[in-house]
Amino acid sequence: MKTGPVIGHEVIRLDAVDSTNNYAADRLARQELRHGTAIVAMEQTAGRGQRGRQWDTAKGLDLALSVVLLPEQLAAMEQFGLAKAAALAVHDVVADCLAQAGADPSEVRIKWPNDVLVGRKKIAGILIVNELSGGLVASSIVGIGLNVNSRGWPQEHGATSVALATGRPQDLDGVLGRLCGRMEHWWCTLLQAPARVAAAYTACLWARDRFCNFTLDGEPFNARPLDVDGTGRLLVETADGVVAAYHLDRLRFQR
Ligand code: BTN
Repeated sequence: MKTGPVIGHEVIRLDAVDSTNNYAADRLARQELRHGTAIVAMEQTAGRGQRGRQWDTAKGLDLALSVVLLPEQLAAMEQFGLAKAAALAVHDVVADCLAQAGADPSEVRIKWPNDVLVGRKKIAGILIVNELSGGLVASSIVGIGLNVNSRGWPQEHGATSVALATGRPQDLDGVLGRLCGRMEHWWCTLLQAPARVAAAYTACLWARDRFCNFTLDGEPFNARPLDVDGTGRLLVETADGVVAAYHLDRLRFQR
C-alpha cells in the first residue's frame, strides 16, 4: 500500500486544456500517470461540473485540479470515501485560509455530497470519476474546482472565493501545495482509519440537524440531514420522526 507523501509529488501544469479531468482520463487510459499525480490548468475551456453541467474557472485566478489516485485495495462499495476525503481536504485548506485571515473557520461546511461552502455560498465543487474492476476501485480522478482569487459573481450566483471570504488575494501555488498536503492526509486516513474520515465529514456537514427544503423524486420534501452513510446516501429525518437514506438520484437540496 502506498503511504508516503505522494499526492502532488508530480504536478503537470497546463496553460490551457478542455478539462483537467478529461486530460487525466486520456493519459490514464494510456497508463501514463502515476498514483498521486496532480494536473493543474491555468485555463479550462470545457470544465466539467456535476450532472453534466459546465464548470467555469477564471483564467489564472482559480484552481482547476485533478488528482489521480490508483488505490490498490479500496472496495467499490467504499468509493464514497474518496468523495469524503476530497471534500475534507478542500474544507481544511479553506478553513485554514479563513483562520489565518482572522475570519471564522467554522463557516466552512461540506454540503452533501461534496460541495464546499462558506456560509451559504459555494467556494468549491468536486467531480470524481472512478474506474471499477473486480469489486475494487482501480483508478480515481478527483477533479477539484476551487475559487481562489475570482471576485466578480453576481449575488444570485451564490458563489464566493477564498479571496472574497478572507479579504486577501491568495497565492495559487501555495493553495495548491496545501491542498495536495491535505489530500495526502485524508487519503492515508481513508486507507488506515476510514471511520475517522466518516466522522470528520459528518462533523463538517452543512445544515446537519437543521430542517431544509429538498426535492424527493421531484416533489417538495422537508427534513433534516443527520449523516451520510458509507455508500454516500444522505440520512434524513422528517418532522414526524421518520428516518430514511437517499442517494442523489432521488434527493436534492432545493436551491
Ligand atoms: C461541481 O459541479 O460542483 C463540480 C465541479 C468540478 C470542477 C473541477 S475543475 C477541475 C476538474 N476538471 C473538470 O473538468 N472538472 C473538475
